[in-house]
Amino acid sequence: MDFSMIKRLQLPKLDLRNIEWPRFDFSGIQWPKMPKLRIGDAVARLPIIQGGMGVGISLSGLASAVANEGGIGVIAANSIGMLDPEYYAKNKDANSIILRREIRKAQEKTTGLIGVNIMVAVDDYPDLVRVAIEEKIDMVFLGAGLPIKGIPVEDLRAAGVKVIPIVSSARAAALIFKSWSKKYKDIPDAVVVEGPKAGGHLGFKADQIDDPDFALELILPEVVAEIKAFEDLYHRTIPVIAAGGIYTGADIYKVFKLGASGVQMGTRFVVTHECDANIRFKEAYIACREEDIEIIKSPVGMPGRAIRNSFLKDIAAGKKMPFKCAWRCLKSCDIKNARYCISLVLDNARQGILDKGLFFAGSNAYRVDKIVSVNELLQELITQYQYAEEKGAGKLKDEYEKVLEKLVALKEEYFIDIKEGLGSLVDEYERGIEKGTVLFREEYLKTMDKINSLKAEYQNAVDKANLLKAELVEMFEQYSLFDKLQIEGTCREPCR
Ligand SMILES: Cc1cc2nc3c(=O)[nH]c(=O)nc-3n(C[C@H](O)[C@H](O)[C@H](O)COP(=O)(O)O)c2cc1C
Repeated sequence: MDFSMIKRLQLPKLDLRNIEWPRFDFSGIQWPKMPKLRIGDAVARLPIIQGGMGVGISLSGLASAVANEGGIGVIAANSIGMLDPEYYAKNKDANSIILRREIRKAQEKTTGLIGVNIMVAVDDYPDLVRVAIEEKIDMVFLGAGLPIKGIPVEDLRAAGVKVIPIVSSARAAALIFKSWSKKYKDIPDAVVVEGPKAGGHLGFKADQIDDPDFALELILPEVVAEIKAFEDLYHRTIPVIAAGGIYTGADIYKVFKLGASGVQMGTRFVVTHECDANIRFKEAYIACREEDIEIIKSPVGMPGRAIRNSFLKDIAAGKKMPFKCAWRCLKSCDIKNARYCISLVLDNARQGILDKGLFFAGSNAYRVDKIVSVNELLQELITQYQYAEEKGAGKLKDEYEKVLEKLVALKEEYFIDIKEGLGSLVDEYERGIEKGTVLFREEYLKTMDKINSLKAEYQNAVDKANLLKAELVEMFEQYSLFDKLQIEGTCREPCR
């Protein structure tokens, strides 16, 4: 055995001195706040829209409370006239009268942003749009149908009213934007994309509701991509607003990562002190369990999500609830075969009439356990959003610091192995201590293997640290945090 080769073997060298590691100081960083929501020249301090909830659930009380807190409050125009005791005498005029009254009341209570939600499918939809224009509402949300024909675009623009369609697919969004572009040489100002977890009537077929291909997480980026072409064409920013099943600030963070610029939430706002419904409506949310929330077939021909109660059980058992049709409010309503009037039972629910009411609710309604103020709800969402945001950066920071610690440990192990492992073996050899040659060689090679694997492990850790570093830098750049982020110089060795 030629032992001289052992002397010639080169120890693997790691040049630890040339690795530079930025040391991040995370203290004092202002973590990103929820971004504002800009819809044309209307700017909401919070990117949260309270969804319009028909038949008296969201009136001036709730809408103004949300607007006062920096969000966008929405009055639902749908069958709002049922609040008028003379609804059956005045029929559709009652809707316009009460809508006007509620807009004015809201405008008295707030200088914040207020919208009106109008269903395209209702017969008096042009009248309700007209009221919104006359009262110079900030924006109209147009759902339950495609807002394409007969839109008074010029009048809306002259009054400064923004138009925001509500869609459930990229196809519908494309159709609306294309038709507007062709017909009106203009496009809507934003778009709400409502997924199948929402409360109320749903823009999906019954079999699509639980189909993962129609989940909000999938349709949202599709709508964002569809709208992009129109943004480029018109040199305008068209925010896409996500709705349906958004419950926490972390949910808001998640949809923002998928391209949303705002959220529309309904269920959470029902269970606030300011919500205009009777307290029994809110208590029905608190009392319901997950299995109580079901999909119903509404007489208007669309599926809807509601809380199962004695009324729905009676209907499912084939009972009818006789009603007088005030005026054919919904073109699509199958009055002859309808077992109940949708507006009437929604109005009963608003008044807290449990056994004759239809309680629309989102898929997450069972999670609600108490009534809070709008302010408390929004503060909770803001904190959760920031926490979700922080968790992203915080997780990276932890990982980065762990890798740096590992580097230090590996470095120490590496040098100890060289010095105490290989070094002492060579010393032993050179001092001529008797040892079986085979044993000696095996030990030497084992030590070399260990050193090599340590080297590889070290290099891996270095690569990982570099990746994490790049990710952190990108994250900070993305949120323009660099000015706030202190980099305390760099160290020549891994720093703790
Ligand atoms: C009680 C209730 C009534 C609703 N009424 C309407 C309505 O009249 N028009 C409409 O476009 N959306 C309506 N919605 C849908 C909401 O505006 C909102 O988009 C939806 O609730 C979002 O889903 P979430 O409840 O999971 O937050 C209603 C929702 C609820 C819970």
